[in-house]
Amino acid sequence: MTEDFPIVSGVCELRQSVAAFRKAGMRVGLVPTMGALHDGHLSLLHEAKKRADRVIVSIFVNPTQFAPNEDYDSYPRTLNADADKIAETGAADLIFAPSAREMYPTNFATGILVGGPARGLESDHRPHFFAGVAVIVAKLLIAATPDVAVFGEKDYQQLLVVRRLTADLGLPVEIVGAPILRDADGLAMSSRNVYLSQAEHAVAVRMNAVLKQTGDSLRRGTAIVEAEADGKRALLDAGFQSVDYVAVRDAATLGALETLDRPARLLAAAKIGRTRLIDNMAV
Ligand code: PAF
Repeated sequence: MTEDFPIVSGVCELRQSVAAFRKAGMRVGLVPTMGALHDGHLSLLHEAKKRADRVIVSIFVNPTQFAPNEDYDSYPRTLNADADKIAETGAADLIFAPSAREMYPTNFATGILVGGPARGLESDHRPHFFAGVAVIVAKLLIAATPDVAVFGEKDYQQLLVVRRLTADLGLPVEIVGAPILRDADGLAMSSRNVYLSQAEHAVAVRMNAVLKQTGDSLRRGTAIVEAEADGKRALLDAGFQSVDYVAVRDAATLGALETLDRPARLLAAAKIGRTRLIDNMAV
């Protein structure tokens, strides 16, 4: 099946395809991914297909969003299997799978610094992360010029950073957030779940349960600082080795909240073995 599915690796070819879609009066959607696709990603393609006539999926393991001690080298790269899965959805039309050299030509020296929602949370623990995401997402949007781009709410902070970035740079694209897909046991789908041993998986599934308990406790009136501390303790008791944060933030800005007086988001990040998991939900 892979042989039949159109894959382009150059920005010029991508632009030619997009120009042909536009000439035919079509609306174009983009789903940026790093590959190793699971059903959560595939649900993003379906979201894009609802809003666009032609859907492009980018597959690129972006080196600049990994720190030297992170899993860039071992990150799963499964292009053929990904292409088969994409073809089976019937919801996408083209894969853009560039090389690192295509996206980062020799002497590449440009950075994008996003403030606002990029501050705190992930940035406290992965300070390089949003700089890398901002550059690659901007480059993908400039290359593909989609009308709409879909990002998963699993990376909720990333979604808000992308919204800020596109608004601030005036990129003419609608950014759509798609709901988190979970396994039957509640674990949020993630390409990194493949790293989990069976024992670690049993701990990992507790993250969603702890977030639910914390959300319930907040709704019963527990103070935010207390609920965050209880959530952190509950993750450690569940077997996580370390907890980067359990935090309740303004759902639109990720600014700090003293009380639940507006839509809020509960976010968590914790490590089990060599795997760092994140999850979040509305409160
Ligand atoms: O969420 C991801 O998979 C990546 O951060 C993204 C948005 C594709 C940028 O590399």
